[in-house]
Amino acid sequence: MGTYTICGEKRLKGEVYVGGAKNAVLPILAACLLCEEQVVLENCPRLLDVYNTASLMRSLGCDVKLDKNTIEVNAGNLNKNELPKEYSEKMRSSIFMLGSLISRKKQATAYFPGGCEIGMRPIDLHLKGLSQMNIEIKEEGGKIICDARDMKCGDVVLDYPSVGATENVLMAAVLTEGQTIIHNPAREPEIVDLQNFLNSMGANVSGAGSGQIIVKGVKKLHGGSYKIMGDRIVAGTFLAAAAVTKGEVTVTGIEPMYLQSVIAKLEECGCTIKTYEDAIKLSVKNELTEISSIVTAPYPGFPTDMQAQMFALCCVCKGTSIIMENVFENRFKHGAELTKMGANVTIKDRMAIIRGVDVLKGASVDAMDLRGGAALVIAGLNAKGITTVNNTHHIHRGYEDFAEKIKTLGGDITED
Ligand code: UD1
Repeated sequence: MGTYTICGEKRLKGEVYVGGAKNAVLPILAACLLCEEQVVLENCPRLLDVYNTASLMRSLGCDVKLDKNTIEVNAGNLNKNELPKEYSEKMRSSIFMLGSLISRKKQATAYFPGGCEIGMRPIDLHLKGLSQMNIEIKEEGGKIICDARDMKCGDVVLDYPSVGATENVLMAAVLTEGQTIIHNPAREPEIVDLQNFLNSMGANVSGAGSGQIIVKGVKKLHGGSYKIMGDRIVAGTFLAAAAVTKGEVTVTGIEPMYLQSVIAKLEECGCTIKTYEDAIKLSVKNELTEISSIVTAPYPGFPTDMQAQMFALCCVCKGTSIIMENVFENRFKHGAELTKMGANVTIKDRMAIIRGVDVLKGASVDAMDLRGGAALVIAGLNAKGITTVNNTHHIHRGYEDFAEKIKTLGGDITED
């Protein structure tokens, strides 16, 4: 399962390229099912979820080739319309395939994804959104059977701006004749990237990033190549790591605007931030002080995917910091692990109260989920002595060459 050994108290310094966004490449791979010609995706992160998605697509008849950070997809021979059960269980994001599979095949079957480390994560909003396009959906013994032979454009109103539900409905609408309007969609930058990708292939989508997405159906998409956007969460993770080590780090290959809510909180605790066209530089000159409140919310609110990393930072900020986790119900598991490292943490339901200590101390801790695992690495970089972070397979789901990149910044980290 993998273990990182970190010898802390080394100041991180230098420049790191963050790579393509996991949460952009996964829906974009799903969107490749809509196209019968060759698509080339560049800047793809080399991550387990990406490899699993490629295998899932091959099992549906697609030709998928991976070469370093480039993926070539040809879905011309898509010949199955059932998403295999093993992938639904292994990878929740496989549900993103449903919208495009329905659109191509008109009939499609998927399995309910299980709960995951950070909560139950139901898919009711996905199904409710798709059914508003006149797709008939039946649930039978854990299977979701979709009949889209009478699928129609129209208005789709999401009760909550779910990222995955927005992406699924958007993909279902791209090849559907007429105009579909998604009301109350998620506004995450990765949805803008999905829109840009689809439009580069001949789709007619507008409004992503705003309160309404308008999809004008087109007959077909054409092939092409597209560069995946940089990963704002990986960038934020390195910035938090730089902050706990009082370092000076520049993250490159990202759009700073997409990290505004994170930058604001880093500045609040005393970090100095400079933004450039596609980079952010963080340095720490003064003592780090508390962050009065971090409240996670759909974009442009503070991203839940950065909550754990900021939690680790708050552990060494003088004073009392408060974090409210409003997106997922079970996303504070790192709190108990950080306590083993000397953090002073009180968790009550969705609120964490963190009283800063001068320095954390090395301990053996377990990564429970992806971002919580990254938070433990951040804490280990600050800690006095040796920290071992177990179950690094969680961390590999979202970070490409994590230890190698930390090493190039001067961190002392090895993996067994
Ligand atoms: C995506 C991201 C994930 C991020 C999350 C929130 C990908 C691959 N993953 O996940 O990293 O943490 O957005 O920014 O892009 N919900 C329902 N019913 C639904 C769908 C969602 O109740 O049908 C709930 C979820 O349980 C959760 C909240 O809505 O509490 C947000 O989920 P959603 O925005 O859908 O996240 P994902 O698309 O799963």
